[in-house]
Amino acid sequence: MTSASNAKPVALITGGTTGIGLATAKRLHALGYALVVTGQNPVTLEAARKELPGDVVVLRADLRSLTDADRVAAELKHRFEKLDFAFLNAGIVHFRPIEAVDEESFDAQFDVNVKGQYFTLQKILPLMGRGSSVVFCGSTIAYVGLPNQGPYTGTKGALLAMVRSLAVELAPRGIRVNSMSPGPVDTPALHKIGLPPEGLDALRGEISKIVPMGRFGTDEEIAGAVAFLASRDAGFITGTDLAVDGGMTAA
Ligand SMILES: NC(=O)c1ccc[n+]([C@@H]2O[C@H](COP(=O)([O-])OP(=O)(O)OC[C@H]3O[C@@H](n4cnc5c(N)ncnc54)[C@H](OP(=O)(O)O)[C@@H]3O)[C@@H](O)[C@H]2O)c1
Repeated sequence: MTSASNAKPVALITGGTTGIGLATAKRLHALGYALVVTGQNPVTLEAARKELPGDVVVLRADLRSLTDADRVAAELKHRFEKLDFAFLNAGIVHFRPIEAVDEESFDAQFDVNVKGQYFTLQKILPLMGRGSSVVFCGSTIAYVGLPNQGPYTGTKGALLAMVRSLAVELAPRGIRVNSMSPGPVDTPALHKIGLPPEGLDALRGEISKIVPMGRFGTDEEIAGAVAFLASRDAGFITGTDLAVDGGMTAA
């Protein structure tokens, strides 16, 4: 730990190695944050190490493991002794009709998207003081029903409900807790759902039709919203969900 690094605000991003998390890491770094980002896939971890500025700490930590969450908290304590902002962003989605959902798929989505994020917050909380804040990554899917995403939709609904409880619980400690719900964003997540290229194009077209702005959002637009919620300008905002979705939930 150096006095220079300690003077900077410190942020943690779970799932900061690709997509929305990676774009947010770049944005927060440009704003002067010292950063720790996590992921679990050795390939994307290595790619992120190359793509992010050299002073960003890229850690392998599987959200399904509470031991890994302990290790992330210990690393933050060792390097910075504090944490000003956490973007609890990592998430997985399985596109499957109800008949094709097995217990393993159901549990995996809840373990990463809900349980892992909750316990990560529990472990890092001792490092967070007055004025610090947390943003969970929700989704418009928590408001807008779409087929073949039942368990994933449940995870995001659970997160948004948890935010309200945590915001009230942590407000006396001066810690703000919010969520940010992206609409569709073209990230590597889209390529993990197992559709062939023509299927992906069709899906993009169908989804764009239900977004009033008629397009996908960009990861930079999402990063900007997260940076706002982390900033002092959002100092009186807690317990809320910010939709960044081109009007999808309003429609
Ligand atoms: N893209 C959209 O249209 C959209 C819309 C609404 C909400 N969201 C939400 O936005 C968030 C980010 O998604 P994205 O679109 O940026 O997807 P993405 O590019 O697939 O990024 C997901 C991130 O989560 C990490 N992750 C996954 N499983 C993990 C685990 N077990 N332990 C640790 N890290 C893990 C991934 O790391 P690895 O590469 O190491 O697995 C990656 O860094 C998610 O919560 C997603 O639900 C996305």
